[in-house]
Amino acid sequence: MQRPGRLQGAGLQDGLIRPAAPLATPSRSPRLGLPDLGCGVGLRVPHYTHLFSQRPRVDFFEIVSENFLVEGGPPRDNLERALGLAPVVQHGVALGIGSTTPLDFDYLARLKALARRTGTPWLTDHLSWTRAAGAELHDLLPLPCTEEAVRYVAERTRLVQDFLELRVGLENPSSYVTFRANTMPEWEFLAAIADEADCGILLDVNNVHVSAKNQGFDPRRYLDGLPHHRVVQLHLAGHTDKGTHLLDTHSAEVSEPVWALYRYALERVGRVSTLVEWDDALPAFDVVWDEAKKAAAIAEEVFGGAGPRAEPPTP
Ligand SMILES: [Fe+2]
Repeated sequence: MQRPGRLQGAGLQDGLIRPAAPLATPSRSPRLGLPDLGCGVGLRVPHYTHLFSQRPRVDFFEIVSENFLVEGGPPRDNLERALGLAPVVQHGVALGIGSTTPLDFDYLARLKALARRTGTPWLTDHLSWTRAAGAELHDLLPLPCTEEAVRYVAERTRLVQDFLELRVGLENPSSYVTFRANTMPEWEFLAAIADEADCGILLDVNNVHVSAKNQGFDPRRYLDGLPHHRVVQLHLAGHTDKGTHLLDTHSAEVSEPVWALYRYALERVGRVSTLVEWDDALPAFDVVWDEAKKAAAIAEEVFGGAGPRAEPPTP
């Protein structure tokens, strides 16, 4: 597994944020040298009975890291069982990479310990902020797309990657409004952060569609504007049409426009691990898995069965 190089003078021991040296050799290889795991599904508690009794041949699972940070107990027992079925990739919601509060190195230490257990090839979280003025807002709030925010988020991302010794992928948000302070479109913002931090991108295709509809931009421009070699994973999900806007609910099948955008993304990014998210109004496992199979079938159409698939790690 390729890992980012170590930073110098990053001041990790005392938790202070200091200017960090850029990584010595930014990677230009596709997927930053990370494997293509195929098409996976989120690991969700209501599916446990089915999964552990039927043992379907899932390409990979994605877990929400924060649900498994405490050692021992039923959650970790079930994680061990899932690890016996398929590779597990970690996705988080609490990093707060854009928050103005200091990075939480106690949290990061627990995240790192979990990563060592799961063997996750990379680790993702959201390009968002979640905390301010001592309050935890429990939401994934978008950032103003400015040069100042690029520098701020990139520096924190480098620190996180160095501490975790793992490639981090930042996920594009779904959003409903924009900031007057924006000085660049979101795709340029995400691209600039990824290049400056030498990190990965978790490209949520549904989020691009939702934001494009809500803000009135062409979603293909978003996909065209990203550094494709940095996309380490895709997300697919369903949304809800509220009439005046689209809401990112993860509560339905992937919509036809998002399937079309997924195909467009594959044609530009290349073959890459794809994960179907479904959280609210969760149906039977086979319904979610059918969505992952549909994603795999589209990838086969795009790549014609050609194109190497890197070997996934042994579960
Ligand atoms: Fe997502």
